[in-house]
Amino acid sequence: MEPRNIYWHHGIINRTHREQLNKHRGCCLWFTGLSGSGKSTTACKLEEELHNNGIHCYLLDGDNIRHGLNNDLGFSPQDRKENIRRIGETAKLFVDAGIVVITSFISPYISDRQAVRQLFGTSDFIELYVSCSLQVCEQRDPKGLYQKARKGEISSFTGISAPYEAPESPEITVHTDKHTTQENVTQILNYLQKNNYLH
Ligand code: PPS
Repeated sequence: MEPRNIYWHHGIINRTHREQLNKHRGCCLWFTGLSGSGKSTTACKLEEELHNNGIHCYLLDGDNIRHGLNNDLGFSPQDRKENIRRIGETAKLFVDAGIVVITSFISPYISDRQAVRQLFGTSDFIELYVSCSLQVCEQRDPKGLYQKARKGEISSFTGISAPYEAPESPEITVHTDKHTTQENVTQILNYLQKNNYLH
């Protein structure tokens, strides 16, 4: 293989300095779940509550990122893998900036999520499963995508014609078909408090 001739350059200001300035640590809250499971709704509310409590946070959301950074990617397994890889690397930069980054992507493959987890230090990555039955997601169908997928108008649609591999041991699971958004956000905040993420 050709030598790449690239070298890591260490700056003067590092993550610890930035976290001291922010007065809290950075981490990545990785939401995963079916389309319509409530990832974006829960993540938006969580971001609002963290922000209002003086926590520097930023939400990276699937549909939005696919408008820009990842607008060259579709929904084949290879493209989803590249989507998740890029988001993982982006999220890692946010954590290095001392920010609480919330990512909201279906991220359907265990192997892709595992690869992202390995980019981070042990406690920097928190996998959060937004659990909701396919039946309820399909009833909600907020964008009419399940209906289109059932009619064959969208191919490789997660849960219908493409797989979703639920996490085996996520740090947090919220059930959006059993609890309200506020209850779920409170559960997440309690986890972050208890595990010393917010100071
Ligand atoms: S992935 O699997 O993590 O790469 O997907 P993600 O980047 O989160 O994008 C999911 C949103 O894209 C829309 N959409 C689809 N989802 C799943 N399968 C197919 N084929 C598809 N086509 C378009 C859909 O609006 C998803 O948003 P959410 O918020 O999950 O409903």
